[in-house]
Amino acid sequence: MGKGYYISKHMATAAMVLAAIALVTIIALSVVYNREKSRNAAKFTNSTTSPVPPTPKTSNEPWDKYRLPDTLTPQYYNVTLWPRLVMNANGTYIFTGNSGVMFTCVKTTDLILIHSNKLNLTLFKGHHAKLTGVSGVTAPAIKTTWFQTETQYLVIQLEGKLKPGKSYWLYTELRGELADDLKGFYRSEYMEDGEKKIIAISQMQATYARKAFPCFDEPGMKAVFHITLIHDLGTTALSNSQEIKTENVQIDGTAVTRTIFEPTKRMSTYLVAFLVSDFTYISAADDKGVLVRIWARRKAIEDGQGDYALRITQPILEFFEKYYNTSYPLSKSDQIALPDFESGAMENWGLVTYRETALLYDPKTSANGNKQRIATVVSHELAHMWFGNLVTVKWWNDLWLNEGFASYVEYLGADHAEPTWNIKDQIILYDLQRAFSVDSLTSSHPLSRKEEEVNTPSEISEMFSTISYSKGAAVLKMLSEFLTEPVFAKGLSNYLNQFAFGSSVYSDLWDHLQKAVDQTPGLKLPYSVHEIMNRWILQMGFPVVTIDTRTGNVSQKHFLLEKDAVVDRKSEFNYEWFVPIKWMKRDQVQDQLWLLQKSAIHKPMKVSKSEWVLANLHVSGYFRVNYDLGNWERLLSQLESNHQVIPVVNRAQILDDAFNLARASIINITLALRTTKYLTHEREYIPWEAALRNLNYFFQLFGRSEVYGALQAYLKKQVKPLFEHFGTISSNWTTVPSGHTDQFTQIIALSLACSTGVEGCRELTKSWFKRWMQNHHVNVIHPNLRSTVYCDAIAAGGAEEWNFGWQMFQKATVAAEAVKLRSALACTKVPWLLNRYLQYTMNPEKIRKQDAASTIGYINSNIIGQPLAWDFFRANYFYFFKVYGTGSFTFSRLIGDITSRFSTPFELSQLKQFKKDNAEIGFGSGTQALQQAIEKTTAKIKWLAENKEPVLQWFTSESE
Ligand code: BES
Ligand code: ZN
Repeated sequence: MGKGYYISKHMATAAMVLAAIALVTIIALSVVYNREKSRNAAKFTNSTTSPVPPTPKTSNEPWDKYRLPDTLTPQYYNVTLWPRLVMNANGTYIFTGNSGVMFTCVKTTDLILIHSNKLNLTLFKGHHAKLTGVSGVTAPAIKTTWFQTETQYLVIQLEGKLKPGKSYWLYTELRGELADDLKGFYRSEYMEDGEKKIIAISQMQATYARKAFPCFDEPGMKAVFHITLIHDLGTTALSNSQEIKTENVQIDGTAVTRTIFEPTKRMSTYLVAFLVSDFTYISAADDKGVLVRIWARRKAIEDGQGDYALRITQPILEFFEKYYNTSYPLSKSDQIALPDFESGAMENWGLVTYRETALLYDPKTSANGNKQRIATVVSHELAHMWFGNLVTVKWWNDLWLNEGFASYVEYLGADHAEPTWNIKDQIILYDLQRAFSVDSLTSSHPLSRKEEEVNTPSEISEMFSTISYSKGAAVLKMLSEFLTEPVFAKGLSNYLNQFAFGSSVYSDLWDHLQKAVDQTPGLKLPYSVHEIMNRWILQMGFPVVTIDTRTGNVSQKHFLLEKDAVVDRKSEFNYEWFVPIKWMKRDQVQDQLWLLQKSAIHKPMKVSKSEWVLANLHVSGYFRVNYDLGNWERLLSQLESNHQVIPVVNRAQILDDAFNLARASIINITLALRTTKYLTHEREYIPWEAALRNLNYFFQLFGRSEVYGALQAYLKKQVKPLFEHFGTISSNWTTVPSGHTDQFTQIIALSLACSTGVEGCRELTKSWFKRWMQNHHVNVIHPNLRSTVYCDAIAAGGAEEWNFGWQMFQKATVAAEAVKLRSALACTKVPWLLNRYLQYTMNPEKIRKQDAASTIGYINSNIIGQPLAWDFFRANYFYFFKVYGTGSFTFSRLIGDITSRFSTPFELSQLKQFKKDNAEIGFGSGTQALQQAIEKTTAKIKWLAENKEPVLQWFTSESE
């Protein structure tokens, strides 16, 4: 989830330079903040559309429950929609249409509940719908209908009963707003050739299909959809299936086109998609005749920006067909890049939608990081075409299986398309370590939730969390490694075959994997797949495995970031796991063991003083490792003398484990800091990125303290050889290395060297940017280095540089280039520029809604921007809650970003006060994120009290 941020992370480090003005600004701005806050409080009390959640209902009426009753099942829908792409007299955009659903009664009832939200339904004889019987059945008359807004139902009470086994037809005529809210059927706007263009597009996941047409809007309620779109002449309409008929007709005196689509396969409502636009496409057909098309703005396609996506789609589809041992289930695969899109991409079956940055690649201006993003996102979404779409989880409590799975296999698909990238290794950075950081808090939660715990749209949105995505990916990877990939794939393919076009729960997958294990002679597991995996998914957290090489003792303990944290949540497994441990010794002997209890002696791990043990080899397991001090010392000297003996992902993991063990006060901080000493020899990306993240944490903690100077000096020393290395191999920065990840390391070298003041670095970046400013038609800066260079130059400059950047941002026709500028604009150190920029995030004409939250995040990662962003966010909390509060990733990410630097008791009390102040408005899908922020801050305060001195001393002595 949200991996799109990562290029800017290198930059974040670059942005962290201390300035005295920050303090002055904080004081000045807290005055503004208090004023704004009271103004908002007044606004809020006067508000008529109060978002205050209703007091918990004691009502037992079926329409007060968020889950549909089990009385009816949908068979198919006929949906006709007509989006109007011109503003009406009231200044709004609308769509009209009608929708019919044939459903079968399973249990006798006199009540129909169907989801419908924000739709205006035509009255027929005073009721919002028409009901008829199918095949000669007589339908009971409608007694009354109304909208239950809290649970988002159209409620239809009947005079008589519906009969089991009989089918009925429910028909509605509707009108809805085609708003720019990124949800349901919505509109997106962009400029082309000086003309404003409008498109209509949909985003249904998780609970927005009901905003486009009345439907049984639960993932397990699969049906067939017959879709028709009415649209302006000259525009194209797309949906999940192939168009079967396109004709020009007159409707209400208007000449329009009507496009009728083939009936879809049986599928969930959240995967339905519609699009009306004047986009164009490039296409290819594979051997089996599956049509692949990439759609985007006309200009982008003409520029060739869709070519890369088209090139990788077929190999990835072919890979998954083989991997799942199941053909692609549809006859076409459309992928489309949208100017306004809330998440990164969405796996609508047959019509996958993307943010422009996740699909469009321009070789002239996009970085290789942008290319990697496209390969992984396309792979992720295409993986869902089977896992998620063909077989769907019954209810959102099992979302982790869907998203965790796609987040794991996206690496396999991308690796097939780009075999030279070694991309599979990166899972440890972008999933495993990311999951560790939230799963080591007491506010974490088990991967799998109970069905009854997930009900409201906000609770559903919250399921799209780092735990679901990244922990899901990490434990599935671990599973596939201890089963071996062929056994895993076999079980998987049987599972897909059994549940095709239907839905399942996670234990169905365990069943099929177990069968595959049973059919594999020679594969011995200590327990069943259920018994092993349930410990990883039904209890939160993960173990730290401690190996004492003096005795061979191996033990496990729940790893918690906060030393004295109290875990309230009970676990039926007592926070113990069955841990598959691969390990090696210095003499290269490799071995594997299962740790099945709290502690056990494993003789081969008792080694002599000249040996060392390295556990979690290739980081295949979801756990951290600690050793006795002697073994740590020996690993450290191995890193110093010849680090290549240790696999590259393990080098990164040693760093990340050591830093986190130190943060949890399990080992000494100086030991962790010493793992960074060997970096002067390190040339690989993954260890550098891991180091950078952990050091970044120090920048965040010490950015305003006296430790900062010594930290800078130390890092400068460490990065210098890397900077010089790349200077040499790139003919003084005029070329980029050929290796994919070497290009990432080059970016780290440049950004860290510039931010720590390595001689010659800033001169380079400044001169490149200046040349561009002098002639903005010629940008000589290599696309890979642009984020860093732009950020550095804008940080070093003033209004002139900022305004130039802003101008270039507005002119950018490649989305990836626009993001680089948008994030660089947050690097300025000038408070008024930052504040004006913050204001822009509330103006969609300046910063698109889809980009507002990440822009605030960028500003927040600038040490001077951070207090401004926090004040701004609090002052405008009501606005942000209203616009983003129920969205899936946006709000939780925003809260996470904006609190990420907190580490003092004063900041903690501000955070708690913020929670109190806004309790009435609520925190929507950011509720967990707020809890995590409080816990993280508390842990940091405690840690700082004990560790600040030794850290200062260590950096001081090491930088001399
Ligand atoms: N199904 C999600 C998109 C989504 C998320 C829709 C939340 C509604 C609510 C999609 O498969 C996804 O996971 N997209 C990721 C990108 C992916 C490569 C991790 C995203 O949007 O960031
Ligand atoms: Zn996904």
